[in-house]
Amino acid sequence: MVTLLNVEDARRLARRRLPRGLFEYLDRGTEDEVSIAGNRAGLDAIRLAPFALEDVSQRAQDTVLFGTPQPCPLVIAPTAVAGLMSYDGEVAMARAAKAHDIPFCVSTQSMTSIETIARDSGARLWFQLYVWKNRARTFALLDRAAGAGADTLVLTVDTAVSPKREYNQRNGFGIPLKPSVRAGIDVLCHPRWFADVFLRTLRTTGMPTYAHYPDEFRTALGRAVVGDEISLATDVSWKDVAALRAHWKGRLILKGILRASDATRAIAHGVDGIVVSNHGARNLDCAPHPAHVLPAIVAAAGGRLTVLADSGVRRGSDIAKYLALGADGVLVGRAPLYGLAAAGTPGASRVIELLRAELDTTMALLGVTRLDQLPRTLQMEA
Ligand code: FNR
Repeated sequence: MVTLLNVEDARRLARRRLPRGLFEYLDRGTEDEVSIAGNRAGLDAIRLAPFALEDVSQRAQDTVLFGTPQPCPLVIAPTAVAGLMSYDGEVAMARAAKAHDIPFCVSTQSMTSIETIARDSGARLWFQLYVWKNRARTFALLDRAAGAGADTLVLTVDTAVSPKREYNQRNGFGIPLKPSVRAGIDVLCHPRWFADVFLRTLRTTGMPTYAHYPDEFRTALGRAVVGDEISLATDVSWKDVAALRAHWKGRLILKGILRASDATRAIAHGVDGIVVSNHGARNLDCAPHPAHVLPAIVAAAGGRLTVLADSGVRRGSDIAKYLALGADGVLVGRAPLYGLAAAGTPGASRVIELLRAELDTTMALLGVTRLDQLPRTLQMEA
């Protein structure tokens, strides 16, 4: 694992290992990918100014998120079909989270059920929700998540419809996996993935599928057929937030907030936290970068809820930047997924280790010893 010296190393390895269709699904954005570049530019433009001659011999990056102490300010973001990135990918990722004592957020669209992930990893789990058209089925899913021990529900609010990702169509990539000549050649060019991930999954658990989808929506092949009842609901509104708040006993987070007014509305609905996020530039291509809107949202929140941020984190200094802008914690999506695709649990764990080490170096060079000192390093524009 020493060979992985940064997130980009893991990305390169992931690109080699995964079929092109799968890698592009992991790596790319939507439409013209303007916000992919924007996420990078947004973080790169931020400057943190060091304090000279501070004693930084005792540094700590531990924090408390939602009342629970954790050794670093990271959460592993929900990512659909992580189970295709490496064998038993969701469990492998949860084990990496467990190794670092940070939460892993299980996606509605994961390939392994939250019950199995909980049993096989022992990790602290959050559950991410895409609301289905059939609300009764949606609530039944939430009860499963609570029963499996998820203490935090993350409602994704930025995905009313599936975004336009033309490369998926060109690559013939989609869930359920559809056989095509192009996808077949792609897979045959990656025999190691085919044997280690696909065939092994087929042998042990059957055809890869969305594990949380009800059985009656599966074909004989075991593939999920997205029936109307469990397709994405396009009418999700604040009424659903109120209903979820009444139903869900644990903490409730809204993921994908990009406006101060929505943060204020979230507070009025009794929400515990928000994730300021543009979904890693994977949905609305003209969305703002979280770094641009974060300070106004933090000001509107006024400490009344926990503010997390994500999108574009590839270095420990990116984490420092989000924290300097006022976030309480940071989610990472692609970075650990690259590690997972590169080398399973050790790969994902190595990426988290690298990010933590880079955050530590950044703090030392900035002359700060605790995370709550980061906001004062922010270099304001002249
Ligand atoms: C995601 N993301 C995501 N978000 C969500 O709420 N539910 C989901 O199922 C998924 N699926 C998903 C798949 C893949 C392959 C990626 C890369 C991302 C978005 C994710 O939670 C997070 O917001 C972004 O990944 C953050 O940006 P970075 O860290 O990837 O730049």
